[in-house]
Amino acid sequence: MRIIIGILLLFLSLEAETSYEKGKALYIAKACYSCHGHKLEGMNTFPYLANRAKGYMKYKLKRFRSKQADTQAQEMMITYSVDLSDEDIDDLTTYMQDFVEDEAAERYDTSFETHGDGGS
Ligand code: HEC
Repeated sequence: MRIIIGILLLFLSLEAETSYEKGKALYIAKACYSCHGHKLEGMNTFPYLANRAKGYMKYKLKRFRSKQADTQAQEMMITYSVDLSDEDIDDLTTYMQDFVEDEAAERYDTSFETHGDGGS
């Protein structure tokens, strides 16, 4: 009986995974961070995505998914969106819109120093 309850609880907790959590997992699994950053802060010409309007980002991702890009830079996004489902896009954009920075703080390793004695 206890095992059955345990299994039921496990299913319930899986069910309870929020759109934000699913979006976060996808953001990491699809390596979106390699261009847009772990804190969704962007990098060089790659735009930041943190707390931007969900509707806008959804529109952009769906356009990229249908292989539409307005600039050469945007073509880069096609590869990263062709295999996203509508639900994936919904979860990703929830994560980006509602993103909380504190929670991603540990994703950068700041323990090393950028200068040293040259090593010899
Ligand atoms: C290889 C680098 C790269 C990766 C990886 C990448 N992107 Fe992008 N992303 C870009 C570039 C470049 C643009 C277009 C910037 C521009 O309009 O000039 C862009 C644009 C976007 C936009 C539209 C932002 C805007 O201001 O119009 C969204 C939303 C987005 N990316 C989400 C994602 C998501 C989600 C993933 C992972 C599935 C991802 N990106 C992976 C490079 C990347």
